[in-house]
Amino acid sequence: MSRNYGTGDGAVCALDDVTLGFAAGTFTAVMGPSGSGKSTLLQCAAGLDRPSSGRVEVAGTDLAGLSETKLTVLRRQRIGFVFQEFNLLPSLTAEQNVGLPLRLAGHRPKPAEVAAVLAEVGLKSRARHRPGEMSGGQQQRVAIARALITCPAVLFADEPTGALDTVTSREILALLRGLVDERAQTIVMVTHDPVAASYADRVVFLADGRLAGELPNPSPQAVAERMARLEAAPC
Ligand SMILES: Nc1ncnc2c1ncn2[C@@H]1O[C@H](COP(=O)(O)OP(=O)(O)OP(=O)(O)O)[C@@H](O)[C@H]1O
Ligand SMILES: [Mg+2]
Repeated sequence: MSRNYGTGDGAVCALDDVTLGFAAGTFTAVMGPSGSGKSTLLQCAAGLDRPSSGRVEVAGTDLAGLSETKLTVLRRQRIGFVFQEFNLLPSLTAEQNVGLPLRLAGHRPKPAEVAAVLAEVGLKSRARHRPGEMSGGQQQRVAIARALITCPAVLFADEPTGALDTVTSREILALLRGLVDERAQTIVMVTHDPVAASYADRVVFLADGRLAGELPNPSPQAVAERMARLEAAPC
């Protein structure tokens, strides 16, 4: 798929003919220099944005064929998205934030279901706390629980550890890795950190809107070397 922004002199090709597949039950990291198209790729793949050309398929459904209403429903039911800045609603407790996707879909969240997913992310004792009463790592766990409550086909995460310290980041990454290993969750994560990328099964590199190779079973050293080469490459 491709994604262009603007027209004429100011036109930007944020994604240039990128073809990628994410196998079910696998963990993929997306890396590349700033402005290489990582967030654009994630937004298009998650149905938050539409590609200018090409197609996106999620769990057998072609997103291009969907109306805005149907796309919203699919996004709510089949896709989870986690952001760098957590994006929780500050006035709601952890359990209310987690239940929100179900409420938006017109269902009453079952307390046991919410409790189970909060326990899965290690936040059993924080269910009644509001975001302002929790650490960054705890808030990101709530955001992950909120993304998981609908059992999404894919969990997308755009720099989920970008706002966290090193130790907390590693805990969140171990949690994501556990979701892949234990519940065969499909995860696609953008990161700038070679250590974060090493938790994935493979790393996909972008440069200037194009695919620039991939690395299976990535070690932090191999990822850092590849990134150094990409950042040094002349445009
Ligand atoms: N809404 C927009 N309008 C115009 N240009 C945009 C828009 N969103 C992104 N771009 C451009 O598209 C290109 C890719 O942006 P994108 O946000 O996908 O990069 P990124 O790899 O996520 O970068 P970063 O690591 O800094 O987050 C950049 O050149 C950016 O300026
Ligand atoms: Mg980005």
